[in-house]
Amino acid sequence: MKQKLYINGQEAAAQQYGSLRSPYSGEVIAEVASAGIEQVDQAIEAALEAGVVMRKLPAYRRAEILAKVASLLQERKEEAARIVAMEAAKPIKTARAEVDRTVQTYQFAAEEAKRIHGEMLPLDAAPGGEGRLAYTLREPLGVIGAITPFNFPLNLVAHKVGPALAAGNTVVLKPAPQTPLSAYFIAKLFEEAGLPPGALNVISGDGKLLGEKLVQDARVKMITFTGSPEVGVGIRNQAGLKRVTLELGSNSAVIIDKDSDVDAVAARCVTGAYSYQGQICISLQRIFVVDELYEAFVHRFVALAAALRAGDPLSEHTDVSSLISEAATKRAMDWVEEAVQLGAELAIGGRVDEQGVMQPTVLLHVPAEAKVSCKEVFAPIVLINKISSIEEGIQQVNASDYGLQAGIFTQNIGKALDAADALHVGGVLINDIPTFRVDQMPYGGVKLSGTGREGIKYAVEEMLEMKLVIVNRNK
Ligand code: SIN
Repeated sequence: MKQKLYINGQEAAAQQYGSLRSPYSGEVIAEVASAGIEQVDQAIEAALEAGVVMRKLPAYRRAEILAKVASLLQERKEEAARIVAMEAAKPIKTARAEVDRTVQTYQFAAEEAKRIHGEMLPLDAAPGGEGRLAYTLREPLGVIGAITPFNFPLNLVAHKVGPALAAGNTVVLKPAPQTPLSAYFIAKLFEEAGLPPGALNVISGDGKLLGEKLVQDARVKMITFTGSPEVGVGIRNQAGLKRVTLELGSNSAVIIDKDSDVDAVAARCVTGAYSYQGQICISLQRIFVVDELYEAFVHRFVALAAALRAGDPLSEHTDVSSLISEAATKRAMDWVEEAVQLGAELAIGGRVDEQGVMQPTVLLHVPAEAKVSCKEVFAPIVLINKISSIEEGIQQVNASDYGLQAGIFTQNIGKALDAADALHVGGVLINDIPTFRVDQMPYGGVKLSGTGREGIKYAVEEMLEMKLVIVNRNK
């Protein structure tokens, strides 16, 4: 299969193609176009011209197109899930769940398209403001550069494309080099749904080259990026007055109080730690358990983690598969080794099987300076440390450069609410894991975890410009 670029409503050949390989089997899945600067330029120009059409497209039409994409995706769910499973090595069960969420994300975007509105302003609240009618309009920004990661190749594209189009903007989408096929798949669904040509353009290729062009081009009015803090900070530094939304990483944590139901909480934490091999920004990486419950929790957690099945992402039985690259696996294994050298105890895992799949790994008593503790692991590694109190747990959670989401399990509502106040993160989950997300909720972080919020309604707000209109009725 040869995958071309998608510019101005049609496929566009590139001068260069690269082989896209399955992270699991290493087999070539497709030959994928690699855009040059000239083609990024064409994509931006197409998006700029389509902006004239999109600005005039009524809200109900934008909503219809987004709703149609949701229903087309629902119809082609299995095909979409297999694309995700193949290119991202996402276990097929998890890939299907991503498709379900993506359908919802586009449905939410369709609904939000109809809710964009300004407000009337009481100008006579200030002396001199009498006799004036004032209201605000919310206008599209124009061309939005969307740079998306490999870990949710359908749904994190939807979190950028959905709100951008709902708000009447146009998009140049640069998908992750590892997972471009899902993005091209969705572009064809938009074409079928009747999106004006040029309103969504997809350009795959060298991340740095294409990303820098999008960030530096004055025709692009906003960059919405999900990825690493290093790249995110680089974008912010280069973006000048462009609007920028950054969804960056985390080393998400949960605190577990002594009154928790060990079986239920351990099962939930295993889901949070190992879904998609831990390659999720809100993956559960650090677990802090009060000492009374520590041994029982570790015992149950390790038993459940050991029962997970590793293997081919296309198998119905697989729970965990390969990381996105051999380099990612090597880096994760090095970090486990470093933690052990620093005094951590390896309870399970810490090895790669004959298919190259890193096994679910649990580390105990991990010092704070170990990379598996203070950096984002993005791998099936979790640490479980003992704490003497919830307060100590809060301190440990906050002693992080990141702050995306955090969880606390406790039956004590007072402690839970105190923790919600004290945790320095974008979202607190009481009696749940930090990995919880439904697609309409505000989602984003503090510190190195980024700036701005996604979740359709909130992303739409970031993708609109406010305009004030004042009518002087005194004349
Ligand atoms: C992310 O990795 O930031 C997205 C997590 C999710 O949507 O569940």
